[in-house]
Amino acid sequence: MAIRSFANKEPRMSELAYVDEMAVVIGDVDIDEDSSIWPMVVVRGDINSIRIGKRTSIQDGSVIHVNHVGEFNPAGNPVIIGDDVTVGHKALLHGCQIADRCLIGMGSIIMDGAFVESDIILGAGSLVPRNKVLHSGYLWLGNPVEKIRALTENELRFLRYSANYYVQLQRRYRLDKKS
Ligand SMILES: CC(C)(COP(=O)(O)OP(=O)(O)OC[C@H]1O[C@@H](n2cnc3c(N)ncnc32)[C@H](O)[C@@H]1OP(=O)(O)O)[C@@H](O)C(=O)NCCC(=O)NCCS
Repeated sequence: MAIRSFANKEPRMSELAYVDEMAVVIGDVDIDEDSSIWPMVVVRGDINSIRIGKRTSIQDGSVIHVNHVGEFNPAGNPVIIGDDVTVGHKALLHGCQIADRCLIGMGSIIMDGAFVESDIILGAGSLVPRNKVLHSGYLWLGNPVEKIRALTENELRFLRYSANYYVQLQRRYRLDKKS
């Protein structure tokens, strides 16, 4: 496992979180309980902070990075991810915010300052441009992303199911490591 401090900031991880041996986590990063970081994920909180809430999974090959405070961006862009979020394989999350109970489709790109509100499905391979706001309760899809339709009751229930499925899976991995 490559967990490294940078500029005197050490990643902080709940004892109940799972970080795979092949993930890289650097700097000002918080990972809350029951969350999971899977192989080949990079979480690089070197020039701003990254917060990952509870029961959130960041799946294989995803990259999370931030934007610094500077002349061209006085506020900078941290990354803030809420609770019960499923981030599919090979997503790229850059300087963005994602609220609770979202599913971020495989291979999606979310750019600086974008805000994904709660209870959203973002279709696989979508691109969310800088500062775009995705309103709660909808399927969003495409490059650039568009609002497609309201989520069904079943899909809203699936968002919790998906998060919980990964909570159970990461527990199995943590137990496996100890044995
Ligand atoms: C978008 C999604 C939610 C399906 O929504 P849906 O309303 O059930 O859509 P359907 O499967 O009925 O497909 C409807 C149309 O959208 C197209 N479509 C489906 N997913 C698409 C995607 N990600 N990007 C572009 N088009 C897509 C289909 O080809 C179909 O096109 P057609 O009408 O021309 O044949 C799903 O395909 C998806 O991307 N889910 C994300 C899965 C994921 O990444 N999970 C994380 C893994 S852990």
